[in-house]
Amino acid sequence: MAVALLVAAGSGERLGAGRPKAFVELAGRPMLAWSLDAVRAAGIAEIVVALPAGEDAPSGTVGVPGGATRSASVRAALAAAPPGDVVVHDAARPLVTPETFTATLAALAHADCAIAAAPVPDTIKEAGDDRVVTATLDRSRLWAIQTPQAFRRAALEQALTQPDELLAQATDDAWLVERTGGTVRVVESTPANFKVTTAHDLRIAELLLADRLPPAPAH
Ligand code: CTP
Ligand code: MG
Repeated sequence: MAVALLVAAGSGERLGAGRPKAFVELAGRPMLAWSLDAVRAAGIAEIVVALPAGEDAPSGTVGVPGGATRSASVRAALAAAPPGDVVVHDAARPLVTPETFTATLAALAHADCAIAAAPVPDTIKEAGDDRVVTATLDRSRLWAIQTPQAFRRAALEQALTQPDELLAQATDDAWLVERTGGTVRVVESTPANFKVTTAHDLRIAELLLADRLPPAPAH
């Protein structure tokens, strides 16, 4: 069975809630608790959480201090993880479903890395510094990348051996696998699995989660 790495060590500057984003209250619980429910409902029992200073690991998880960048937090969590394939998830995506974890892990049968992604609904254009459009991309081939991102253990370990400057630039871990020659596949997800970045996002997540029933007790 795979291990889940939940990255929750960011400060949440853009949200500006005065405390680390993953611990901000969302529909009556810390934001992180919603992702934890989904991980557990997917049948994943081994969970490592990268934490910001001053916050404790939720019960039943292993906590590690996060790093200065997201990749450093992933690396710290991986170092504390028991053997097996891993699935990395941002605590900032509280609307994730158990099925998204299951689907990305299943797709590892045909890839080194499998990532949740939503088809892009907008037309995407490229423009220069002068705002003059230089290209219109073929939308049918574009995906907006999310987490969870599942990895064969060796592929993620190798990806994270790249130089620190490179790790600091990475906005997702799959890019690091692409760079080391691994196969990365997208697994279709929905825009509902959005990342809470701003106060506006938090408000939408609150509305969507407000009437969600608490999870059934684990058995
Ligand atoms: N993260 C982390 N360690 C870091 C930076 C980010 O574990 N050093 C985690 C965040 O906790 C979040 C996820 O990576 O779950 C995605 O990052 P982002 O949405 O950028 O969150 P923050 O970095 O907290 O927000 P901001 O960039 O606005 O400060
Ligand atoms: Mg950030």
